[in-house]
Amino acid sequence: MQQISGNPTAPRLAVLVSGHARGSNLQALIDAHAAGELLTSVVLVIGTHSESAALERARCKGIDTLVISPMKPGRTETEYGDTLLQALSRRNVDGVCLLGYMRRLPLTIVAQFRNRILNIHPSLLPLFGGQGMYGLNVHAAVIDAGVKVTGATVHLVDEDYDTGPIVVQQVVAVNDDDTPETLAKRVLECEHKAIVEAVRLVMETGIEVVGRRVITKPTTTSQEHAP
Ligand code: GRF
Repeated sequence: MQQISGNPTAPRLAVLVSGHARGSNLQALIDAHAAGELLTSVVLVIGTHSESAALERARCKGIDTLVISPMKPGRTETEYGDTLLQALSRRNVDGVCLLGYMRRLPLTIVAQFRNRILNIHPSLLPLFGGQGMYGLNVHAAVIDAGVKVTGATVHLVDEDYDTGPIVVQQVVAVNDDDTPETLAKRVLECEHKAIVEAVRLVMETGIEVVGRRVITKPTTTSQEHAP
């Protein structure tokens, strides 16, 4: 069993995004913090490409942004990992969220922030996850499979794609007339709630990881922490 203590003061979070991330989950975290529903604040957003709506959202809110491209000529996986790690350490980050980050995270980062890295995925894992399962592909596969429910999953990140212990899941019904687009829209609304809840649990309340199970304690809001 691993006990991951929460930090009831003001945890500092970094968000990693890939090129085309819209940043709507990032926005959900920013809004929840501004509304006093989350003590955790996003202090750094790192993108793999400079042209990203997510980076733009962060800049608008005065949040530090960095572009660290894994594809920079001559850059090895190790050097990419070291560059990320340096950026995270410099800002005294307590945890990391992958919000539309399409790569496998360098192992040094997974090791350094074990059980403090969250990924969000638009299905009920372990179904419809893994490499290639992103964006509308996921929702098309859900509809093709004929399942009646899908949803959003936030899980701890381990060494593989979409395989770490699950922190929060929210369920969405699949309707007979759903298209990948209509389903994606309803799942995304759930993602925004799920990511806020998962960040609160892991960063603020604390969790226990027992095998593949994440045991959560009762959650509190920042208002409840206030004197
Ligand atoms: C979300 O659907 C998430 O599940 C997946 O990437 C998408 C990011 O969306 N990993 P956004 O950029 O937060 O709007």
